[in-house]
Amino acid sequence: MNTEQLVLKNVTVNFNGFHALDGLDFSVDKGELRCLIGPNGAGKTTALDIICGKTKVTSGEVDFESKSITSLQEHQIARIGIGRKFQIPSVFQDLTVRENLQVAYSENTSVLSNLFKFGLSKDEEGLNELAEMVNLQEHLDVLAGHLSHGQTQWLEIALLVAQNPKLILMDEPTAGMTRQETHKTAELFLQLKSKHTLVVVEHDMGFVKEIGDVISVMHQGKILAEGTAQEIEQNAAVRDAYLGSGGITNA
Ligand SMILES: Nc1ncnc2c1ncn2[C@@H]1O[C@H](COP(=O)(O)OP(=O)(O)OP(=O)(O)O)[C@@H](O)[C@H]1O
Ligand SMILES: [Mg+2]
Repeated sequence: MNTEQLVLKNVTVNFNGFHALDGLDFSVDKGELRCLIGPNGAGKTTALDIICGKTKVTSGEVDFESKSITSLQEHQIARIGIGRKFQIPSVFQDLTVRENLQVAYSENTSVLSNLFKFGLSKDEEGLNELAEMVNLQEHLDVLAGHLSHGQTQWLEIALLVAQNPKLILMDEPTAGMTRQETHKTAELFLQLKSKHTLVVVEHDMGFVKEIGDVISVMHQGKILAEGTAQEIEQNAAVRDAYLGSGGITNA
């Protein structure tokens, strides 16, 4: 049985003659937590931009659940269940954590229909569960603008999860986090796995080792290698690709 949920086939993105993606083949199974690594400029962010429709392919094909999404608009891709966390958080600074979560929930029509089925308490329960999952249960009444950097990132992730996307894309979610926050984020991702498919672009190899089963390495707009952390670290082509950028551990 074909369990591939997301498939990129021979995707090319040409920015004024420069191939940011150059024949990228990439696929992810449903419920997988896939890490995408690679040296600066490898095309990781561009790959996420293609999946969520922010950038259009020059050539090639993107399929989600066996249907082509190659020519869909960004909002249409969001509606079929692909959520993207950007590097700059977009939480409402002047609303509390609870209010931010309520807004995210109200944008989710399936949650709204659940409201009619179960009544308001179910929604409140889901909201509390979500807050607990992202370590913000003690901060529900705090203004989002007063959260720490790490907490803001977690709130942003919670807002995304509240919309119940099938596939979640994240670009460097642990950037700027402390060791402890990074570790808690790893635990959070392991909880989200299975219920959602996750594709996480990350530079922190410690974090990648903690969460990833299969790691995909990008270089010059295509996949250079795929495998476990150990396989990747021993791969000669991967080492060569990272030469001059401080090695894979400083990826
Ligand atoms: N809008 C654009 N116009 C022109 N070139 C671009 C554009 N966006 C990205 N690029 C180029 O495409 C290449 C891939 O960029 P991308 O941002 O996808 O890399 P990345 O793997 O995410 O790198 P990093 O690890 O630094 O975030 C880079 O050389 C970049 O300069
Ligand atoms: Mg990037």
